[in-house]
Amino acid sequence: MSIIISAATHKGGTGKTTTIVNLAASYANINKRVLVIDLDPQMNATQLLTTPGQQYPEEKTIAQAINNSLPLEEVRIQTSCEGVDLLAASPDLNDIRDRMKSDAEQAFLLDDLLESPVIEEYDLILIDLHGSLDCLMLSALKSSDYYLIPMFAERSSAEGLQMMVDFVARHRRLLSALRLLGIVITRFNPKNATNVVYKDLIYEMGKKSNIPVFQNIIPVSNAVSGADAEHKTLLQYRRTLPITEAYTALAGEMLPLLSSRRRGRVPQIRTAAIAEARSAFEMLDVEQMS
Ligand SMILES: Nc1ncnc2c1ncn2[C@@H]1O[C@H](COP(=O)(O)OP(=O)(O)OP(=O)(O)O)[C@@H](O)[C@H]1O
Ligand SMILES: [Mg+2]
Repeated sequence: MSIIISAATHKGGTGKTTTIVNLAASYANINKRVLVIDLDPQMNATQLLTTPGQQYPEEKTIAQAINNSLPLEEVRIQTSCEGVDLLAASPDLNDIRDRMKSDAEQAFLLDDLLESPVIEEYDLILIDLHGSLDCLMLSALKSSDYYLIPMFAERSSAEGLQMMVDFVARHRRLLSALRLLGIVITRFNPKNATNVVYKDLIYEMGKKSNIPVFQNIIPVSNAVSGADAEHKTLLQYRRTLPITEAYTALAGEMLPLLSSRRRGRVPQIRTAAIAEARSAFEMLDVEQMS
């Protein structure tokens, strides 16, 4: 049975795309079949997973599939990363978002596509989102078994986390089966004292709020922009770098947590602890500025 995971937070530029694409590559590397769905009109995951010269028909995008009720098997494309297929994004996703009016309409954009029998060809479906709390995010979360929150170890991350968790709580009826898989700390520099202090705060907040924080931390690395420029995953770019190994280890850490699809009680998140952490993050920022 395929498991669906979204990377989501209410904040731009926190490592969502880098995490989704490199987790996809890490899982493909251990022979899992992976489908990446790019639901971000900026198309960053699509650009990373396709080469500039790669031609794919214009109708092979997720927006076209939603607009014209095309089945998954007609719109998915192969990527240069073996074992990873893609539902490509396009700027038309903006029009879809603008068109949606009611909550009821908003949450079901992916249902038809994901009901396709070919979905069972995949072990994992990884959805990349942009940082807005809109119908694209709501639909992705409604279709997902899990979401994960990539965070940089810096002040504004706590704000994005709190808004994200509040958004899920506000839609708890629609999202009753969704579980928070955990926080992934990304772009971490162990030599940066501020990064270290915020990292410790994130782990403390995780314990108090009942949100798992993954032990495998993704380090800061110039390889991310290098791989980006060459439209490659980190495994394709440099297999032995610490960041590549960190994504492989993170994929391994996640795997045993992914078995129980929509079964059992959804763990209760203690939101007061997130609000507390957000104040602590802000205090720290003030102290550092003074
Ligand atoms: N581990 C890392 N080391 C260095 N740079 C990184 C790392 N992870 C991400 N970046 C850089 O940080 C920026 C944001 O990363 P990314 O695009 O993955 O975030 P995002 O959350 O998907 O952003 P958006 O909200 O715009 O979609 C990018 O320029 C990326 O190259
Ligand atoms: Mg992105």
